[in-house]
Amino acid sequence: MLLEMKNISKSFFGKNVLENIDLTIKPNSIHALLGENGAGKTTLMNILYGLYQADTGDIFIDGNKVSIDSPNDALTYRIGMVHQHFQLVDKFTVSKNITLGLKNEKGYPILNRKNIDSKISSLSKKYGLLIDPKRLIKDLSVGEQQRVEIIKLLYRDVELLIFDEPTAVLTPEEVGLFFRVLKELKKQGHSIIIITHKVQEIFDISDSITVLRAGEKIVSCDIEDTNEDQVSEYMIGRKLVDSNFRESSEKFNEKCLSIESISVKNKGIFTLKNVYLDINKGEVLGIAGVDSNGQKELAEVIAGIEKPDSGDITLDNESILGLSISNRYLKGVRYIPEDRHSDAIVSDMDLKDNIFLKKHFESSYKSKGFINEKILESKTNKLIEQYDIKSPGASTLIRYLSGGNQQKLVVARELEGELKLLIAFQPTRGLDVGATEYIHNLLCEISKEGVAVLLISTDLNELIKLSDNICVMYDGNCSKKIENDDRLDINLIGKMMAGIDFF
Ligand SMILES: Nc1ncnc2c1ncn2[C@@H]1O[C@H](COP(=O)(O)OP(=O)(O)OP(=O)(O)O)[C@@H](O)[C@H]1O
Ligand SMILES: [Mg+2]
Repeated sequence: MLLEMKNISKSFFGKNVLENIDLTIKPNSIHALLGENGAGKTTLMNILYGLYQADTGDIFIDGNKVSIDSPNDALTYRIGMVHQHFQLVDKFTVSKNITLGLKNEKGYPILNRKNIDSKISSLSKKYGLLIDPKRLIKDLSVGEQQRVEIIKLLYRDVELLIFDEPTAVLTPEEVGLFFRVLKELKKQGHSIIIITHKVQEIFDISDSITVLRAGEKIVSCDIEDTNEDQVSEYMIGRKLVDSNFRESSEKFNEKCLSIESISVKNKGIFTLKNVYLDINKGEVLGIAGVDSNGQKELAEVIAGIEKPDSGDITLDNESILGLSISNRYLKGVRYIPEDRHSDAIVSDMDLKDNIFLKKHFESSYKSKGFINEKILESKTNKLIEQYDIKSPGASTLIRYLSGGNQQKLVVARELEGELKLLIAFQPTRGLDVGATEYIHNLLCEISKEGVAVLLISTDLNELIKLSDNICVMYDGNCSKKIENDDRLDINLIGKMMAGIDFF
């Protein structure tokens, strides 16, 4: 299948977000779609998938003009999309999710589970997408859920698969498996469009690229005709500065946070096991580890969301264990959660109310006990400007912002005001290279001012770039600090992440 999008334009609320975009996808190829946060990547793909209609422009498949008015139309043209936020029903089995909405020739739902499950099994074998059709979605890891989304499309005989930031939520191991699947799909005749911010990945996997910037197409070319630096430059319109953050950081010798013998039990299982941790003022402590080895529990126990079963946590030598989330916030503990949709924002609230979510206990945002709308609006506008959050304004619903711009608002909210400790859990997830650089600089700056930063990331490169010291988490245990200097043994960290040489 050869796909061509020609002259596609789209505006929202009178603002152009796509201007005369042309995109060609060759048969049997992997094409990467790149660009800054808010560049229009998701919008362009939503048009191809029939979720939005373009204001102008045409779509051609194998040279024939088609009209795609809904995802159902897209599926008839054998185009399918895996969104950034999976669309699966948690309480249903894999098999039921895959066939949800499908009907047989007579228009009835398909019910023969045995046939369905055997078709799923043969698809999963064919493409290396290992999954048990009988398991419930809620019991699957993110990587496994993604496999279900892919099989869902293959079950519907999709030829062109669109992935919106598929690797943002995957661990490095899962990324490797996912890329193997992409290569297999290509081998078996499928075409793929993949949106990603990770420039390095593009060179591992794609045949060609298109870069958008602020709704315009900057370039389309074969991967052989470009390089990593050039791609970054296409994306943000300037060169990235490769700064060394750690060398310039000042050393403070005062303790900020101390965690002593903290254990957390969930449904009878220890998810944190007797963890000890100290962070000095001005220190960036990186936490490495494969997803779900206790990182979330560690973050939440410090922020006050999770109660430990034993142990103590002190901030500036005072126990904060008995303090509520808001009182810890007022003491200067800030938290950027890993999953912004479930833990950081409310999609149907506007930008300023999303700011207020964490500010309602601060007197400066209120007057006579009520929200001071004027102050809230002006403070929100200031953050929008300072963090370059692309949005129509403080009263826009946050759901209308691109993913990366939503993340910037969360970061802006947590860094506003006086803080002592920042828990930054995958703080650059979904951010473009320019915004990532900006957040990295910010983390470095606040640490120089004496803020302690607990940086939790599955991206080892990010940890090595920013951290003074690194701890590894494995199966609820936290290792001793390892100094992040020239002698750092990356292989050892990798092994420890897998539980080898950990204790
Ligand atoms: N339904 C909508 N209503 C209003 N504005 C929208 C809507 N969808 C997208 N936009 C706007 O269109 C622009 C492009 O958004 P889009 O989500 O396509 O960006 P993106 O390139 O996918 O960015 P990111 O990398 O952050 O995901 C943004 O400014 C966004 O606010
Ligand atoms: Mg997007």
